[in-house]
Amino acid sequence: MAPNLGSAPESAPESALEFALETVPHSLAACRRLDRADPLSALARRFRLPAGVIYLDGNSLGPLPRASEAAVRRATAEEWGRSLVRGWNTDDWIGLPDRTAARISPLIGADPDEVACADSVSVNLFKLAAGALALMPDRKVLLGVEGDFPTDGYMLQGLAAIRPDIRIQTVSMEVLPQVLSEDVALLLMSHADYRTGALADLSGLTRQASEAGVLTLWDLSHTAGLAPVGLNAAGADMAVGCGYKYLNGGPGAPSFAFLARRHHADFNSPLPGWMGHARPFAFEPGYAPAPGAARLMAGTPPILSLTALHAALEVFEGLDPAAILARSRALSSLFEHRAGPALSAHGFRLVSPDRPLARGGHLSFAHPHAYPVVQALIAAGVIGDFRAPDLMRLGFSPLFLSRADVWAAAERFTRVMETGAWRDPVFAAKQRVT
Ligand SMILES: Cc1ncc(COP(=O)(O)O)c(C=O)c1O
Repeated sequence: MAPNLGSAPESAPESALEFALETVPHSLAACRRLDRADPLSALARRFRLPAGVIYLDGNSLGPLPRASEAAVRRATAEEWGRSLVRGWNTDDWIGLPDRTAARISPLIGADPDEVACADSVSVNLFKLAAGALALMPDRKVLLGVEGDFPTDGYMLQGLAAIRPDIRIQTVSMEVLPQVLSEDVALLLMSHADYRTGALADLSGLTRQASEAGVLTLWDLSHTAGLAPVGLNAAGADMAVGCGYKYLNGGPGAPSFAFLARRHHADFNSPLPGWMGHARPFAFEPGYAPAPGAARLMAGTPPILSLTALHAALEVFEGLDPAAILARSRALSSLFEHRAGPALSAHGFRLVSPDRPLARGGHLSFAHPHAYPVVQALIAAGVIGDFRAPDLMRLGFSPLFLSRADVWAAAERFTRVMETGAWRDPVFAAKQRVT
C-alpha cells in the first residue's frame, strides 16, 4: 500500500509539487530528521496531550490548546468570578462571538462580517437552509449528497416537515452535476467526506451550481483548520463548520456559519433571536436583523466555550493552510506505508482515496472487526475512532502530530494485529459513544 503521489486535480487548491517533495521516510531516524526540519513541528508544544498517547482523533475532537486552558481559567476565576454580570462589558463578552468569527474568517476565505460563531453545525444548517429557501421562492428542491453526515440530512428532513411544498433529493456525487436544475434551490454538501476523507471540488461544484442558479451550502466540518478553503474565491453562498475538530475549540465548541455578503440585505434567519437583533438591548417588540452574518445569532452566546475556541484559534495566525494540509497528507501516507504490511495481512480495505492529493485529514479502513481493533489500539495508547458499520478512522491532525508519532502509531497497530490483542472480549463491549 505504498502512497501514490499522483497529480492533483486541476482545481486542487494547493501545489502538487509542494506535497510530492516529501518522500515517505523509511526509518524512525528519518522521521525525526524531517520533523526537526519542519517549522510546523514547533506547534506541538502549544497543545496539552497525555504522556504516552498518540492522538489520531483530532479530526473528531481536537486536543486541548494550552492557550485555551489558560483563557478558560482566566474567564472563570477573573472574569465570571469577579466581574459577574459586568463582564459583558468589562471583559467584552458581548464582542466575543464577533472576535472569534474574525479569527475563523481567514481560514475559510471569508470576510469577518460574513461569519457568525454560534450554536451547533446542525442548528446553523437549519437556519441557513431555511433562509436559502426563502431567497429562492420559485425553487422547491433541497439537494443533498448520499453518504453525507447524517445530521445534514436530518436537518433538511426537519425543514421539509414544516414546509410540505418542498422536496429533498439525495443523489450520488457522480450524478450531482446533472441534477442541478432550475427546480433546485440549494445544494448542501460536505467539503470532505466524514467517512472516507475524500475532498470534494468546492470551487468547481460551486461554479456549476451557480451557473444553474442553485445556492450552495458547504459543510466544512472536516476541512476548516486543515485545508485551504476559499469560499469567496469560489463564489460560495453559505457554509457551516465545527469548532471542535481541527479548530481545537473543545467539546461542544460553537460552530461557525458563513453567509456571503451579497445575501446580507435579503437573508432572514428562521430563528430570529434577540442576539441576532440589530439592537438587542433596546428590547424592541419587533425584530430588526443585525448587519451581516451576525443576524444568524439567536440566543445568548456560550462565553466559556467561546473563550476556549477563541484562544485555540491563536495557533493558526500566520500559518499557510496549504502547508498544514501537505503535512497531514505526509503523515497519513507515512502511516499507510509503515502499517501497510499489517493492514494487508489482516484484511483492512482502504476506503479513503488512495491518492493523497484527493484526501483531507483522515484515513479510513473497512474491517469486520474494526470496533474491537480500535478499542485495542486505544488501550495501546493510540486513540483513533470507529465509525459504523465497519470503519477504523484515523485522523492526521498536523499541528500536534509528528512523523515520529505516526511511525510509533503504525508500530503499535502492527503489534495489536500480530499479537491478536484485539480479540480480548473486553474490546467488543460497545460504549454509548462509539
Ligand atoms: C461533517 C459533519 N457535519 C456535522 C456534524 C455535527 O455537528 P454538530 O454536532 O455541531 O451539530 C459533524 C459532527 O461530527 C460532522 O462531522
